[in-house]
Amino acid sequence: MGDVFVDGTLGAGGHTERIARAVGPNGLVIAFDRDVTAIDRTERRLKQAGLRNIRYVHANYRFLGEALDRLGIAAVDGILLDIGLSSDQLADRERGFSFESEGLLDLRFDTSEGQPAYELLEHWSEEHIADVLFQYGEEKFSRRIARAIVEKRTTEKPLRTAREFAEIVRRRVPREKRDKRDKFGNHNSRNIDPATRSFQGLRIAVNEELDSLDSLLKSSPDHVKPGGRVAVISFHSLEDRVVKNYFRDEDRLNVLTKKPIIADEEECNRNPRARSAKLRVAERVGRGAPDFGI
Ligand SMILES: C[S@@+](CC[C@H](N)C(=O)[O-])C[C@H]1O[C@@H](n2cnc3c(N)ncnc32)[C@H](O)[C@@H]1O
Repeated sequence: MGDVFVDGTLGAGGHTERIARAVGPNGLVIAFDRDVTAIDRTERRLKQAGLRNIRYVHANYRFLGEALDRLGIAAVDGILLDIGLSSDQLADRERGFSFESEGLLDLRFDTSEGQPAYELLEHWSEEHIADVLFQYGEEKFSRRIARAIVEKRTTEKPLRTAREFAEIVRRRVPREKRDKRDKFGNHNSRNIDPATRSFQGLRIAVNEELDSLDSLLKSSPDHVKPGGRVAVISFHSLEDRVVKNYFRDEDRLNVLTKKPIIADEEECNRNPRARSAKLRVAERVGRGAPDFGI
């Protein structure tokens, strides 16, 4: 068999497609997604494109070991994660990721497990809500927001839709100054919605995203061949810190990116969501390193 790579976050399949073409018919891509709609849509698209060397796994990437056992694969040549939310999920008005949607504030990647965000917000204590928004969303006004959520559920009725959540947050968070400069020194005219950080914090908590990342990272040296690579693209400073510290502290990995790789100005103009993306790569130490031609 040729090279075997894992894409832990299939999404719309951009990365999986590129890797599947690069490894050719003798190679294999094992592609995970917790979101069954992403798996269905992308599997259909890539099959139509003629790619047959992909195994689709509807599961959390943290269960990589189990999936490899089932496929009878001892170790792989590389693992890629592109964590967070996909553009398709953001655009889906039924799932609560979009701030303006009248859909329920669900926020789960996999709606077959766990509890939707609106149910959790009905039961969590005010203190816990504030901690989640502060820790995972880095929202300075988390206490005010948590108080407003609890006030609404006790004096009126619990919030249910994404729009209701966004409105509560917007009323408690001042708008950011518009005249910020971006990392290229240009005036950043984008107007960041004050609800962005709270949605992100809640989503990370609902999906236990940092636990999944931590668990995959810790098992990655067991599943990657010597010379194979682990690459993670993250969009959030907390996630980036987890990756950076793990790569630095794990003796079986050699860090290839002393500083994270970021998108250049041209890419950010083409794809504004790339602005906060950071890529870090580490190599499994040991003999028999394949030549990646990089
Ligand atoms: C940023 S998108 C990936 C985009 C993809 N690289 C592409 O080229 O289209 C992230 C995807 O990962 C999925 N995801 C997030 N956390 C996951 C996890 N722990 N296990 C499996 N899939 C996950 C999400 O459902 C989403 O579809």
